[in-house]
Amino acid sequence: MDKKNKIEDLAIFGGKSFFVIPKSTSNLLQPDFEKFMGYSKLFLDQHQYTNNGPNVKLLEQRLAAFHQTEYCISFCSGFWAIALTISVLALKGKTEIVMPSLTYRRMADIAAWVKLKPHFCEVEPETLAMSAATVLPCINENTALILGVHPIVNCCDIDGLVALSKEKNIPLLFDSVESVYESTTSGKVGSFGHAEGFSLHACKLMNGFGGGYITTNDASLARQLALMRGFGFEEIDKIVVHGGMNAKLNEIHAAMALASLDDVDEQVVRNRQRYHTYKRLLTDISTIRLLEFDESHRAGYKNIVVELLDDWPLSRADTISILNAEKILARAYYSPPLHQKSMKFAYVPTDLPVTDMLAERFLNLPCGHLVSNDDVADIVSMLRFISNNASQINDRLREKDVN
Ligand SMILES: Cc1ncc(COP(=O)(O)O)c(C=O)c1O
Repeated sequence: MDKKNKIEDLAIFGGKSFFVIPKSTSNLLQPDFEKFMGYSKLFLDQHQYTNNGPNVKLLEQRLAAFHQTEYCISFCSGFWAIALTISVLALKGKTEIVMPSLTYRRMADIAAWVKLKPHFCEVEPETLAMSAATVLPCINENTALILGVHPIVNCCDIDGLVALSKEKNIPLLFDSVESVYESTTSGKVGSFGHAEGFSLHACKLMNGFGGGYITTNDASLARQLALMRGFGFEEIDKIVVHGGMNAKLNEIHAAMALASLDDVDEQVVRNRQRYHTYKRLLTDISTIRLLEFDESHRAGYKNIVVELLDDWPLSRADTISILNAEKILARAYYSPPLHQKSMKFAYVPTDLPVTDMLAERFLNLPCGHLVSNDDVADIVSMLRFISNNASQINDRLREKDVN
């Protein structure tokens, strides 16, 4: 690790990068190896590698209990878990799906696979989350489904969206990928709306190498989804549901997810320490605001999001380039938002001034299993160094642009 004394020491100007191993914004949990091997032995001993083997069954039971729901159906990815669930729940003959624009980069692709047009809604400026108030103007006679997506810090307006869905008789699926551990006044994430979708990607709180799952209290939906992920047939060649495909979770991924689930409470304790270290140290830098977790309920503390306030002395793009050169893999928060991207598929054009404004201001900072509290202190020192030397850095960067 190379401390920076002068701006020439910055990696962007040719110095050595601060970290040797990149510090990313992905969780990259490595659960206990013996536990992972123990679960793996279960399926290896039975020679059953996929098709509802012992780990998939156990994982589904454990996740249903974790989220306090009746059913959990696992899938090969969060993407297909959500896409297939939309295809079942969406009102037939309707064409639009309401979703935020300030969200997961591939969300509109999910809509395209299920042949629905995204109708992008605004988010609330304080929470970066969609709410009943921001969804309401997007509801019309074409609305097939509301996709209630949680932001990456805290939850969206669960109660408001549930009430709106009931009032308008429009199905509501939550994308709860980033709120897997959270609770609100109304209870634990997992049993709201018609169903909720989660990811087991390595960058998420629960690492199954890759994978996803749906929780629901609806028996008929659970049965349909379980059939669809396995080609849609009950007995060989007896197709019983439309739209079947191979979207099953395999056994080794389920073994990893089980080992991660065993570790999740301890992991959240570690995430909380990292978050509080950021919080304590960032109070020193008045031009950066940390998005705070609502600690009155259960939180996963996984993601670290900061706002660069108006008097932060560098552009966000330059800040990211400087940090990335030091192997601090900060990223622009959901930017550009989906409605600003060129898309090959249809969507409902909408003006989203709040989203446009917010999409310019936030940064994700490194977090997760491979980031220690000392790393957090070093990352904050780096931000302080950049801020203290901003004017020289800006001059030097503009010279670099010219040459
Ligand atoms: C909010 C959100 N929804 C859905 C997904 C898709 O999950 P997966 O990567 O498991 O397909 C992601 C993945 O990053 C996500 O962030």
